[in-house]
Amino acid sequence: METRTQVGIIGSGPSGLLLSQLLHLKGIDTVILERESRSHVEGRIRAGVLEQGMVNLLRKAGVSQRMDAEGLIHPGFSLAFDQRQTRIKMADLTDDDGIMVYGQTEVTKDLIDTRLAANGKIEYETPVLAVENYDGDSPRIVFDKEGNKQTLTYDFVAGCDGYHGSARNSIPANKLQLFERVYPFGWLGILADVPPVDKELVYANHERGFALCSMRSHTRSRYYVQCDLDDRIDNWTDQRFWDELQKRLPDQLAQKVTTGPRLEMSIAPLRSFVAEPMQFGSLYLTGDAAHIVPPTGAKGLNLAASDIYYLSKALIAYYGEGRTDLLDRYSEDCLRRVWKAIRFSWWFTSMMHRFDDDLLSHRLQIAELDYLSKSVAAQTAMAENYVGLPFEPFE
Ligand code: FAD
Ligand code: PHB
Repeated sequence: METRTQVGIIGSGPSGLLLSQLLHLKGIDTVILERESRSHVEGRIRAGVLEQGMVNLLRKAGVSQRMDAEGLIHPGFSLAFDQRQTRIKMADLTDDDGIMVYGQTEVTKDLIDTRLAANGKIEYETPVLAVENYDGDSPRIVFDKEGNKQTLTYDFVAGCDGYHGSARNSIPANKLQLFERVYPFGWLGILADVPPVDKELVYANHERGFALCSMRSHTRSRYYVQCDLDDRIDNWTDQRFWDELQKRLPDQLAQKVTTGPRLEMSIAPLRSFVAEPMQFGSLYLTGDAAHIVPPTGAKGLNLAASDIYYLSKALIAYYGEGRTDLLDRYSEDCLRRVWKAIRFSWWFTSMMHRFDDDLLSHRLQIAELDYLSKSVAAQTAMAENYVGLPFEPFE
């Protein structure tokens, strides 16, 4: 493989692939190094909600054809509690049309197909071991190819390798400030080929714990229930999952749940995490490598996209006009938006989940949900954050 590129990219998740595609459209050369196989990357079931900003970026990247044909635009979503359901009318309360329901798995497949069709370089089963000299001369990425240690040199390196990747770990601990909260529960998710219970997403607060009704299409549903951190998939039959989900929904909704065999079941822990700053010398961290949100606000994937918006603009300004100012303020630009999403996801998570047997906390949650169900001002603030805060324009 080539040993030199303009921008070395670690990780072929949505952030690495989108960056590679946007740079390719401006004639900038990239090489993506990915630890896993292509089938592993394309088989992962993760997020399902795209904000308008991410939709626009995918359109700009020329990878929106299938999303525009198959994605579902949802103008609202609802909050369920106390046998009630309150609809948050995103399209009426904001300038956006709502959100796009289209799986991260499909976004990833579309990006991989587009990159490979243009002879883009993606090296699978190529784990990166370390990024060296990123703040000095001869910066290089050290990776493993079939048991051999090799290196790739570059002008810039994008660490798009997720929370457990190697890019962030290449930075000395005393240069990073880490902020972290691990929540005392996880989400147990099921994917099944059954029609969704409602037209839009439903987030439910129940004494037994949180539940979410989501979907991938009119015939494929994605449901989640809050579970214990030490719970295991082996403890859950399909029947047990459907029974638990129905118990956590208002009766009139529970009656409409169509059950069916699982296509996939997984447990995800919930965490808020930020590493500051997001840049060191020629190394730029993006997406989950730099920050994690609990999935309640559907912000993880969308934040990865907004980082790529800022990084791609900065790199294009550098190669096109010799500008370095946007590269210099990359971390600052991203973090302004990141912290607002961290706040929103923490707030939404805190309002919807059962934390312990503290009755006061539960009553406070119900009071907040009741307030939200009656106050257009509160609903507007929630809708504005859920559809996604704007990407800041550049001069
Ligand atoms: P990733 O998608 O994690 O991609 C990183 C890539 O880097 C991976 O392909 C990985 O294999 C590769 N990699 C890692 N280490 C190395 C290495 N050393 N060398 C080379 N390659 C490496 N968000 C939501 O909004 N809603 C959800 O329901 C939701 N569910 C999730 C469930 C799970 C199990 C996880 C892990 C995340 C979930 N998220 C969800 C978050 C969302 O999926 C992420 O925010 C999003 O994937 C971030 O994209 P990324 O490209 O930054 O990182
Ligand atoms: C999903 O469909 O997987 C999904 C949707 C909304 C969320 C989290 C996950 O808040």
